[in-house]
Amino acid sequence: MRKLADRLASITSFHVMVLMEQAQQLEMQGRDIIHLEVGEPDFPTPENVVTAGVRAMEAGKTRYTTALGLPALREAIAGFYQNRFGVAVPASRILITPGASGALGLLNTLLFNPGDGVLLTDPGYPCNDNFLRQVGALPQRIPVGAETGYQLSAPLVREHWRDHTRAAWLASPSNPTGTLIPMAEMSAIKQEVDAREGALLVDEIYHNLVYDSEPETVLSLPDEQDSLFVINSFSKYFNMTGWRLGWLVAPQQHVSDLEKLAQNYYLAAPTIAQHAALEAFSPESIALYEERRGIMGRRRDFLLERLPRLGISIPCVPQGAFYLYCDVSAITDDSFAFCQQLLNGCGVAVTPGIDFGEHQAKRYIRIAYSANMERLQEAIDRIGQFIGR
Ligand SMILES: Cc1ncc(COP(=O)(O)O)c(C=O)c1O
Repeated sequence: MRKLADRLASITSFHVMVLMEQAQQLEMQGRDIIHLEVGEPDFPTPENVVTAGVRAMEAGKTRYTTALGLPALREAIAGFYQNRFGVAVPASRILITPGASGALGLLNTLLFNPGDGVLLTDPGYPCNDNFLRQVGALPQRIPVGAETGYQLSAPLVREHWRDHTRAAWLASPSNPTGTLIPMAEMSAIKQEVDAREGALLVDEIYHNLVYDSEPETVLSLPDEQDSLFVINSFSKYFNMTGWRLGWLVAPQQHVSDLEKLAQNYYLAAPTIAQHAALEAFSPESIALYEERRGIMGRRRDFLLERLPRLGISIPCVPQGAFYLYCDVSAITDDSFAFCQQLLNGCGVAVTPGIDFGEHQAKRYIRIAYSANMERLQEAIDRIGQFIGR
């Protein structure tokens, strides 16, 4: 048998894939499955954005862009930061990437040597660990609970930083918990990181999707030490998952190295998607996105009210993303088995906690409210009947 790279052994796949395959088989047998496991919005890309993509194709805009991305799109993102958040981010610091995922690969290659440590939360987005291992870096996963909103805090960063630690990697709002890091805490974390000459990586891919407040960005904090790297994407708020487009805001001094890496890794982000994304910032698109944000918020409130009645508790109210990180320990001591039971028993697919780490993973499931209200209501009824509540 062909010998493959040793590093493969350290890369994990999603347990939820097993469930999704089972769901597919059940669907092929004619069962109706409610999908609350999927990490993408159920809304289609707005029509005007799609039309902009089609027009670009028809106009023959089908060749590579430069590795940093279309200048007009980099300007449009800079304009978005300025107009929406009042934050001046020069377009020259913005790189267009193939999804936020493209940015993750660049950052790991830019920043980490083998043996370098990076602070992350457990639970957290699992691909981050895998990206780090690709470059031989060491994920330092810090167990977090509802007391810190499942997020890192300045004291946790202080407590867990070691000699080999080079960075802290945060997500606000987070996947899987939907929780935010308040800006004051973010600032305190940044001070801890800066004091240790580390880098602060902040994944803001869900940051426009918040429901109790107006969105904020970590880019509003001063960054004299050039330590801040911010990842974002057109996938979630902009409803463009399949277009594979994201962006990275980096300190100016690192842009040319990132450009060099991008040229080698992927040459450029998808051209058609970049032209389509220009339209995502039009007033018409933003009005629709905001309407959809309102819909997401109402779904969250509905589930926050109904799930606890089924014995499914949400220890920490998520302010954003479209996920609820639910404690099912009143019902089961193995949330993965519970996910399988829910799928087979009542046709509701959710994601097990083990997909996001090890800390208390068997207590938790992630429910994504990326389904319409009717389907959510139906899911609640089915789960209620299935577990006899
Ligand atoms: C926290 C987080 N970061 C990054 C990504 C990557 O998204 P994309 O590559 O579609 O932009 C995801 C996708 O679900 C995510 O949840």
